[in-house]
Amino acid sequence: MPNTKQVKDYIRTIPDFPHAGIMFRDVTTLFLDPRGFRMAVDQLLHPYAGMRFDKVAGLEARGFIMGGAIAHQLSTGFVPIRKKGKLPGKTIEQSYKLEYGEATMELHEDSLQPGDKVLLVDDLLATGGTAEAGIKLIEKLGAEVIGCSFIIDLPDLGGRAKLEAMGQDVHVLCDFEGD
Ligand code: PRP
Ligand code: MG
Repeated sequence: MPNTKQVKDYIRTIPDFPHAGIMFRDVTTLFLDPRGFRMAVDQLLHPYAGMRFDKVAGLEARGFIMGGAIAHQLSTGFVPIRKKGKLPGKTIEQSYKLEYGEATMELHEDSLQPGDKVLLVDDLLATGGTAEAGIKLIEKLGAEVIGCSFIIDLPDLGGRAKLEAMGQDVHVLCDFEGD
């Protein structure tokens, strides 16, 4: 029997994590499966085949897993965008809103050059606040985000619309609606 499973079929849903009422979309089960992981990497890149990127940027934490594999595939360098306080060199920072409160992302100031073409990668797009912060950091260094690629979109939370309103090209592999 041929295996017809799609990327979405490998994602596990865990109810009430990290707190009651949240349906947590767990991509570790996608990463665990060799076919699923390869399919996700291939599909995240698919719209950008033949295009030139200087760097792949990944958003902490699960964006590092996809981003590393994608950078290897493209033979580019990889740039981590991390939560505040984790990067050892000189950084620039950008705050963004969470459900409750605020968080800050950082980028090494020497990790991108003006004019660099960047592919931004993360596991999940919800409100778009994290990705927006990442885009702003990349642009502060004079680099350009050519595409934003995510495994999962939660369309009810409006992240895709927010990034598209910023003029970004947004690519997602699957979505979960209505919860
Ligand atoms: C999750 C997810 C995305 C972000 C999306 O990360 O992995 O990075 O939220 O949410 P947003 O579109 O509303 O900004 P989280 O902040 O939970 O941290 P982690 O990846 O380090 O676990
Ligand atoms: Mg994250």
